[in-house]
Amino acid sequence: MENTFIYLDHAASTPVDPRVLEAMLPFFEQNFGNPSSIHRFGQKAEAAVESAREQMAAALNCQPREIIFTACGSESDNLALRGAALAARRERGTHHILISPVEHHAVSRTAEQLADVFGFELEYLPVDAHGRVSPEDVAVRLRPETAVVSVIHANNEIGTLNPIAEIGALCRARGIPFHTDAVQSGAHLPLDVDALKVDFLSLGAHKFYGPKGVGVLYARQGVPLLPVQTGGAQELGRRAGTQNVPYIVGMAAAFALVQQEHSDRAEHERALRDRIIGRVLEDIPEARLTGHPTERLPNHASFVFQGVDGNQLLMLLDVAGFACSSGSACKTGNPEPSEVLTALDLPREWALGSLRVTVGKDTNPEDVERFLDALPGLIAKARSLRKATTDNTVSNS
Ligand SMILES: Cc1ncc(COP(=O)(O)O)c(C=O)c1O
Repeated sequence: MENTFIYLDHAASTPVDPRVLEAMLPFFEQNFGNPSSIHRFGQKAEAAVESAREQMAAALNCQPREIIFTACGSESDNLALRGAALAARRERGTHHILISPVEHHAVSRTAEQLADVFGFELEYLPVDAHGRVSPEDVAVRLRPETAVVSVIHANNEIGTLNPIAEIGALCRARGIPFHTDAVQSGAHLPLDVDALKVDFLSLGAHKFYGPKGVGVLYARQGVPLLPVQTGGAQELGRRAGTQNVPYIVGMAAAFALVQQEHSDRAEHERALRDRIIGRVLEDIPEARLTGHPTERLPNHASFVFQGVDGNQLLMLLDVAGFACSSGSACKTGNPEPSEVLTALDLPREWALGSLRVTVGKDTNPEDVERFLDALPGLIAKARSLRKATTDNTVSNS
């Protein structure tokens, strides 16, 4: 069964590329030193971390000192939001935070805590029916007292890409720090922090064939940032804790492979994505694409189906041998429509039936066809199960 199981959930996580694993292995064994140690074991580990930093910086078009290694994409988001907001309040006395309503919880929950516990005023930007933020809406909401703005680069649930460079230009003209969560786009798009005009950018390695438990925050030099994790002077005092050397090495190797291979990967994935979108909309009644039809991640297809319980559908898919998702991985299990789908103003009866299908660099077309052949029957089954549950609830009430 395991051999025939088809993985279509690359937005949740990706397998570690064997070339990445190979680069990591020596740093678990012979090169195990602490990068902060003076002796040669430490020197070797430090050299590996600094070389990884240079590689990440070259790929993002920034200075090595602007790279902060973290433990995951969520930590990068937390450090950017909390670190920038608290620093802005200390330096400029500002208290206003502006974010989109389609952020990952790593951003939105952090912003909510800054409002609830630290007294910041949190404002949400509007989005259009595709979950896109318009730069004009940002422009009218920026204020001298805005501490930080955060807009997701590519949405994890619906794949929509935001006009980050245009929003960045508006923030920069007013001297307001701007963060983007690029955790989903890291695997697919070239990310030049200068061209994007961002001050902070988050990445997590497990989305681009690197290991779980390691990430990066790009932090533009000169933009104030308070450390969130305090202690030792690692990462130039911006993130305390002994660096995870093998994982950092693995992340840099994985990101270097993205740079070399992303256009081939994207071409392969885009063809599969378009095939999925085309056939699902053609073969399945009462189905809608969520997110932008063209301005979306090359590997990402997402839908809502009327009268379906998304979690039930995922279970039916799993039994049939397909791994998909109904939104972000963290969402699975919650029967309520996600905040992202709610922000799109979908009727609840549609928003409850969401499905995310994300292909990867090694997904093969035959597997996609098997999935597409199986899906209409599974949707019909999910619909009849939901109808039976709803009828039962009505007759019992
Ligand atoms: C857009 C986005 N931001 C942040 C994260 C969190 O990243 P991590 O799992 O590395 O903490 C995810 C993970 O799904 C994501 O999709």
